Amino acid sequence: MKIIETIKEMREFVTEAQRQGQSIGLVPTMGSLHEGHLTLMQRAKQVCDIVVTSIFINPTQFGPNEDFAKYPRDLTGDSKKAASVGVEVIFHPQAAEMYPEGYSSFIEVEGITGKLCGLSRPGHFRGVATVVNKLFNIVQPNMAFFGQKDAQQVLVLQRMVADLNMNITLEVVPIVREADGLAMSSRNAFLSAEERRAALVLSRSLKLAEELVAQGEDNALKIRSQVMAEIQAEELADCEYVEVYNYPLLQGITAITGKALLALAVRIGKTRLIDNTILEVK
Ligand code: PAF
Repeated sequence: MKIIETIKEMREFVTEAQRQGQSIGLVPTMGSLHEGHLTLMQRAKQVCDIVVTSIFINPTQFGPNEDFAKYPRDLTGDSKKAASVGVEVIFHPQAAEMYPEGYSSFIEVEGITGKLCGLSRPGHFRGVATVVNKLFNIVQPNMAFFGQKDAQQVLVLQRMVADLNMNITLEVVPIVREADGLAMSSRNAFLSAEERRAALVLSRSLKLAEELVAQGEDNALKIRSQVMAEIQAEELADCEYVEVYNYPLLQGITAITGKALLALAVRIGKTRLIDNTILEVK
């Protein structure tokens, strides 16, 4: 497995792969790889000749008071994990390589970025769309793979790819959970043992909503308030948002008809976690 740090070398690799008629799958990450990322890479391996994963903690998607500086970094551990699932290349540029002095171009996806994480993290999706667009231009993948855990990110990137006529297939891979239900996230590493236990309130409250729907409840407001009550009952949890929107348009609803996204962001101590499920009323 190669680790490539410059755009020039990455382009040379891509040109040679394309010359040989090989398809490229890209798994964009910010490193600190866990089973969720490895599942994306394994899926990419199944359907593409070459898998490139990018490890880049993208400064433009973090707000000034967010955890950019302390975001976990472990290139050595990540390299071993990526190699273990057959990744051919890690693209690991420095920030100055991606955003040299004078950098001033950004991608803005309107509409769906004005809610959920887009509301609580202004500028976040502008940073995500910009860096993913840059990665697409550099790696020129045939396919790119993203996790459903970042449900809104997936919708934003699907919008960008469609709106800008990008010739790339996005594949969305289901959320990977720990045995006890906690969604895999690099930020789980920040949790103390007590916070790790408290963090189970996220998946527990999603399950509660799924059960309510299975029992015939379709009132989005009732589901939302029961999920909130469940979260508020957990002492260490501070609820940032719980929302039920129709899916995939993310419009506000009072009753669920068809598919709805139940998405939540909760702070456990200082760690902000997100999780979601798709509810379906048939
Ligand atoms: O989901 C992530 O890890 C990041 O938002 C991404 C897509 C790698 C862009 O920096």
